[in-house]
Amino acid sequence: MTATKGLEGIVATTSSISSIVDGVLTYRGYDIDDLAEHASFEEVAYLLWFGKLPTADELKSLRKSLSDYAPIPSELIAQIKLYPKHISTMAALRSAVSALALYDEQADEMTEAANENKAVKLQAQLPTIVAAISRIRKGQEPVAPKEGASIAENFLYMMTGEEPSETAVKALDQALVLHADHELNASTFAARVTVATLSDIYSGVTSAIGALKGPLHGGANEAVMKMLDEIGTPDRLEAAIQEKLNNREKIMGFGHRVYKNGDPRAKHLQKMSKELGEMNNDTRLYEMSVKIEEIVTGQKGLKPNVDFYSASVYTQLKIDQELFTPIFAISRVSGWTAHILEQLADNRIIRPRAEYTGPTDQKYVSIDLR
Ligand code: ACO
Repeated sequence: MTATKGLEGIVATTSSISSIVDGVLTYRGYDIDDLAEHASFEEVAYLLWFGKLPTADELKSLRKSLSDYAPIPSELIAQIKLYPKHISTMAALRSAVSALALYDEQADEMTEAANENKAVKLQAQLPTIVAAISRIRKGQEPVAPKEGASIAENFLYMMTGEEPSETAVKALDQALVLHADHELNASTFAARVTVATLSDIYSGVTSAIGALKGPLHGGANEAVMKMLDEIGTPDRLEAAIQEKLNNREKIMGFGHRVYKNGDPRAKHLQKMSKELGEMNNDTRLYEMSVKIEEIVTGQKGLKPNVDFYSASVYTQLKIDQELFTPIFAISRVSGWTAHILEQLADNRIIRPRAEYTGPTDQKYVSIDLR
């Protein structure tokens, strides 16, 4: 038995949800470029769950279910108010989603219909939870979801209590489409491993949130923004990045296990970042990001991933840095739950082996002789 560090190149399952072939990402066979250009996030969620694009009636019915399920239990809001203020927003989200299961009588019902229904519920409630966490941390009361609004519009509305601009809704909706699924990434794998024991969907999504939180995965978008903030002004940029490279530090938002010639999602976020900068008459963040890309790609050959330009996009949408990774979760819960449904439809427990490298032939020594 020989271990493969990080399971690189290991094909751990079959899946018909998304694929990455020769650097092209598809959801259910649709190129991400096509979907980012034309589809709404709700259409994409439907596609991931049910394997086809919805008809107008199916989409209407999904939007209604998402809207009906969007409010969260008052007991959960009361709990969130008790969370310590120093914890990260992702730690709060992980705890809140775990607690959400306690208020769903269907939580342990394992039929396909019950799990599909819970997938829609989780998709509807994650944005409400994230917005509530954000407001409570600022000492504000949560804003109840608006009936009939899309996920993107509702999230921006619940975050501020104000009607968002059409531009902001469109930009966030497109970002959600781009983050919705990504084959067997770390958090999706965590979700599948958890439910493959026949544990419930809430446990699967809680595991996934825990995996997404790390800076090598979804946490990178917040780390990118921290880096841009630390650098501060363009005149300091070259020296700061050079110092990181000389110290062999990882530059957040660059590199990818699967893409070596660039992440197909990054170009959409780069375009969005440029357009938002031009609209706001402030292209500083965009220009700094482009400069960092030039240096890192030039010297290391590493290309930006989905997290790099999303940092400047979200900042320009006036979204707090601590919400960047939770927004990733708001989108990716569609993919996580689609994978959970797929796993459960043809389940086998996921139990790989480890190559043992510890000592052998040890003999027990009684405690008084140690
Ligand atoms: N900055 C500097 N060097 C890097 C970077 C980076 N961002 N990424 C990879 N490298 C270097 C490594 O140091 C390593 O060099 P070495 O062989 O000289 O030691 C080589 O490239 C290979 O990198 P690994 O870390 O082994 O690649 P792996 O496939 O295991 O990791 C990962 C992929 C985690 C994305 C990595 O590129 C990374 O840490 N990037 C920064 C964090 C990040 O942006 N994560 C988000 C990824 S996208 C997503 O999850 C949504």
